[in-house]
Amino acid sequence: MSIGIDKIGFYVPKEYIDIVELAQARDVDPNKFTIGIGQDKQAVPEPYQDAVTMAASSADSILTAEDKKDLGLLIVGTESSVDESKSTAAFLMDLLELPEDIRSYEIKQACFGATAGLQAAYDFVSLNPDKKALVIASDIARYGIKTPGEVTQGAGSVAMIISQNPRILKLDHKSVYMTRNVGDFWRPTFSKTAFARGKYSNEVYVEFFETLWNKYQTKYDVTADDFSTMLFHIPYTKMGTKALRTVEKSVSADKYKKLTKHYQESIKFSREIGNLYTGSLYLGLLSYLINAAQENEKVLLFSYGSGAVGELYSAEIQPGFEKMIDKNLILDEMKSRQKLSIPDYEKIYQVEYKNGTMVDPSEVDTKFYLSAIKENERLYKKLK
Ligand code: CAA
Repeated sequence: MSIGIDKIGFYVPKEYIDIVELAQARDVDPNKFTIGIGQDKQAVPEPYQDAVTMAASSADSILTAEDKKDLGLLIVGTESSVDESKSTAAFLMDLLELPEDIRSYEIKQACFGATAGLQAAYDFVSLNPDKKALVIASDIARYGIKTPGEVTQGAGSVAMIISQNPRILKLDHKSVYMTRNVGDFWRPTFSKTAFARGKYSNEVYVEFFETLWNKYQTKYDVTADDFSTMLFHIPYTKMGTKALRTVEKSVSADKYKKLTKHYQESIKFSREIGNLYTGSLYLGLLSYLINAAQENEKVLLFSYGSGAVGELYSAEIQPGFEKMIDKNLILDEMKSRQKLSIPDYEKIYQVEYKNGTMVDPSEVDTKFYLSAIKENERLYKKLK
């Protein structure tokens, strides 16, 4: 039975900052941010948006009544969850009007959560072939104003429906993975912002990729020539380039040129949005599907979640995949965003809703929003 991604949708907040303006405000050479880090814009969520509202928006962009009827599993991968007990998935049940006979939960393992969800969904569909699974990645990546990580922030969500006979990406069920207790990046429960040993995190990321790529080649007796594209977790777009460079020594110049060209197509959206944490790999996949993918291409996907878990798996782009993606809607969402000044971004950043907050719906510009916090409970609404 073939199983994989049948639909993919995304959500990006409607406001962004320009990375050159951020560099100027931080008294940094803009080339460091645009070339050295590889970013152009960074999505900025409003205070009434969070992992729940963005997850609802990305899922809402692809779910039909028939999908809802067929769903048996809902998994949200996030590392910016709003509750230590209740899962992001449970909040989505009424926002998305989902039927109750669904198994649902949240997965946290830094940026690896959505990949863990995808693999669990694969297993679920193989045992329940007439059912579908909804896997959502939703995150706000935050390091803090004037920190080295600030340029690598971002926000957004990617939703995927996993089913048999997938019309976008068939998973090969070929995968290698590894886990190691690493202190490269963490966010204690008391903190809204992440802590990172930035340069060390880059090293661990690259080492995980190299280890897994060697393991994959040995386990399945393949080389880079068996794949046309390598997709990476993209905390910032230079990061995947660093991992891809490790492949250069073992392939022809022409092959490396092609892999690099395809990687450039996969980072177009990330350059404009920033880090989606667990959604970043899948934003890269979406960017590649929209900008360059060909039917029947064999692709490798490298997932990395600090702390740290890595997984490298392969998949095949399906014939007719373009018909399954609303390219115009996605490009419109990207283009219609409003630029914020750096002082306005800093103001929004400082806002923290406390118990007793009531959000005025007339000031909301997204379909799903945090409407109030009552008795310390976060309440959500859908704009009519
Ligand atoms: N023109 C062009 N390039 C320039 C430049 C200029 N004027 N000035 C500097 N650069 C280059 C540097 O040479 C460097 O390039 P290389 O990495 O290729 O050597 C690059 O710009 C960045 O410079 P620095 O390393 O000096 O930058 P920094 O100390 O300010 O920190 C960072 C960069 C470590 C990525 C930091 O932004 C950070 O900590 N980010 C968060 C952590 C992170 O994203 N880690 C990624 C791996 S972990 C992961 O993937 C999980 C996740 O999602 C977080």
